[in-house]
Amino acid sequence: MTDIKGRTVLVTGGRGFIGAHVARRYIAEGARVVLLDDLSSPNPVTIEGARFVEGSVKDAKLVEDVAEGADVISHQAAVLDMFKGIDDKVAELDVNVVGTINVLNAALKAGVKKVVYASSCGMYGQSEYIPQDEKHPKNPAWPYGITKYAGELYCQLYTRLHDLPTVSLRYSEVYGPGEWYGRVMTLFIKRLLEGKPPVIFGGGKLLRDYVFIDDVVEANVLATLNDDVNGMALNIGGPEPLSAARIAELACAIVDPSIKPVHDDPAPGTSSVHQPGRRRLVHELNDFVLDSSLARQRLGWQPKVLPEEGIRREVEWVKKHKGLWDVAARV
Ligand SMILES: NC(=O)c1ccc[n+]([C@@H]2O[C@H](COP(=O)([O-])OP(=O)(O)OC[C@H]3O[C@@H](n4cnc5c(N)ncnc54)[C@H](O)[C@@H]3O)[C@@H](O)[C@H]2O)c1
Repeated sequence: MTDIKGRTVLVTGGRGFIGAHVARRYIAEGARVVLLDDLSSPNPVTIEGARFVEGSVKDAKLVEDVAEGADVISHQAAVLDMFKGIDDKVAELDVNVVGTINVLNAALKAGVKKVVYASSCGMYGQSEYIPQDEKHPKNPAWPYGITKYAGELYCQLYTRLHDLPTVSLRYSEVYGPGEWYGRVMTLFIKRLLEGKPPVIFGGGKLLRDYVFIDDVVEANVLATLNDDVNGMALNIGGPEPLSAARIAELACAIVDPSIKPVHDDPAPGTSSVHQPGRRRLVHELNDFVLDSSLARQRLGWQPKVLPEEGIRREVEWVKKHKGLWDVAARV
């Protein structure tokens, strides 16, 4: 496919954080956009200029109906709350795997020219080496990673078996305006805006990979237009590894340099004394940094937004939408 203008694009999970950004970009590129979302996310995003269909990717007939006439399906819908997935593995699998099969079947029937699947680096689990390339062993630490990997394998299978053009983008941790998760970066920003210090668990030295939403959107567009990556999975990671201590330092410098982070060392699964209600993960990952050189080579993509700029833009967004964000954030 050489252009997006005039195409019809179905975005599943299009009222969510990433789906909404992707949908806006397709609209800006001149596409007719249809959003399918069951509104299970706490903060459904409102988008101008798109048709919205309320419903679930679990409903095969509905997915088939809304996919009719689509040139592209951007499959972003998923359950991605790790705790939900641990509590109810079947419900998560139903959406993330059966839902993906429904999308692929509907894509085949409609003759779509590209399915872009929102995959996840959550499939890698504990790192055996860093940076992790696409060949890194897959040992998901949570059921979520299993479901995202299974979805990806189905995409590849449909490309091989049925010639359906699919591409999987393995995002690292996506952040930026619209993000609503109770993750380290967002929790630190929220605390700082309340005049409280960020709470760093342990030494705060473990490395993480954060990629800014605009860079993820760009990867989606490039993958849509590139037919040489069909059947592939590509890491989409950030420009530099970030430790919790570095995130805290950057967030303090942006929000209030007079506030200094504090450290806490709760046992896995228990809450912080400084921040009651914020549980430490049961199986924390060691260093985790993606190698995105394949996306660089094959898509000509690279992450452009540096953490200083990305965190500043997230802070600006949180300030303007604090009410919304408060409802959704875990702590
Ligand atoms: N946010 C990240 O850091 C990240 C990292 C790696 C991969 N991903 C993947 O990116 C995609 C988008 O994530 P996000 O961060 O925008 O999450 P999100 O929760 O903000 O968006 C997901 C959207 O899907 C919708 N949805 C959930 N179940 C549905 C169902 N059964 N039918 C229809 N819609 C349903 C939700 O209502 C929500 O609007 C997901 O597939 C996720 O696995 C996200």
